[in-house]
Amino acid sequence: MAQNEMKKKVAEAALAYVKAGSIVGVGTGSTANMFIDALASMKNDILGAVASSEVTAERLAGHGIVVLDLNQALKQVKSLSVYIDGADEFDGGKNLVKGGGGALTREKIVAAASDQFVCIVDESKQVAFLGAFPLPIEVIPMARELVAGIVVGLGGVPKLREGFVTDNGNIIIDVHELKVTDARALEDELNSVPGVVTNGIFSHQGADVVLMGTADGVVTL
Ligand code: 5RP
Repeated sequence: MAQNEMKKKVAEAALAYVKAGSIVGVGTGSTANMFIDALASMKNDILGAVASSEVTAERLAGHGIVVLDLNQALKQVKSLSVYIDGADEFDGGKNLVKGGGGALTREKIVAAASDQFVCIVDESKQVAFLGAFPLPIEVIPMARELVAGIVVGLGGVPKLREGFVTDNGNIIIDVHELKVTDARALEDELNSVPGVVTNGIFSHQGADVVLMGTADGVVTL
């Protein structure tokens, strides 16, 4: 099965986790886009969706799905029932690397506001150790060199994502050549650096369920 076909299958399978009458958190990226297209069939069954990026908000609205600001949503419900999003990598502990699309901070916020994180991926995203995919870090612009220097001290090779500004007005530093043996410790260490908004390790907000598209169909992990 081609990669896009696997993404479509997991996106459709994720609909089973959407509860009628709930508010759904929606991620960013090509797999999340396929989920949005599938969610359109349930638009009259849900209260609405909270988007993890401007581009996701536009796609949701394009399908006539009600888009709610997170603060608005959390006045209506205690938490979102589910957050559905892709990932760049996942390991055996369902720790993730995210942020290939640069939306990591809002993704982590919406995931934290949700009862359950259902991660939708094709099998190419499965790894033994996180770090083969360059780890994105969202950084306040004035802290660029400070953060880059600290990343070098940790054994990484920082590269500025040229010409990219996040929805929050910040820059992204992609860190190459990291082998992540303790995802939670590295997530915490990087997030403690002044100027780091957040990094793309999702260990605290790891997936509860991974739906992985394979040549033989969708596997639930
Ligand atoms: C965006 C993300 C995406 O979930 C990640 O990059 C995977 O994208 P795709 O579904 O296109 O492979 O974290 O910030």
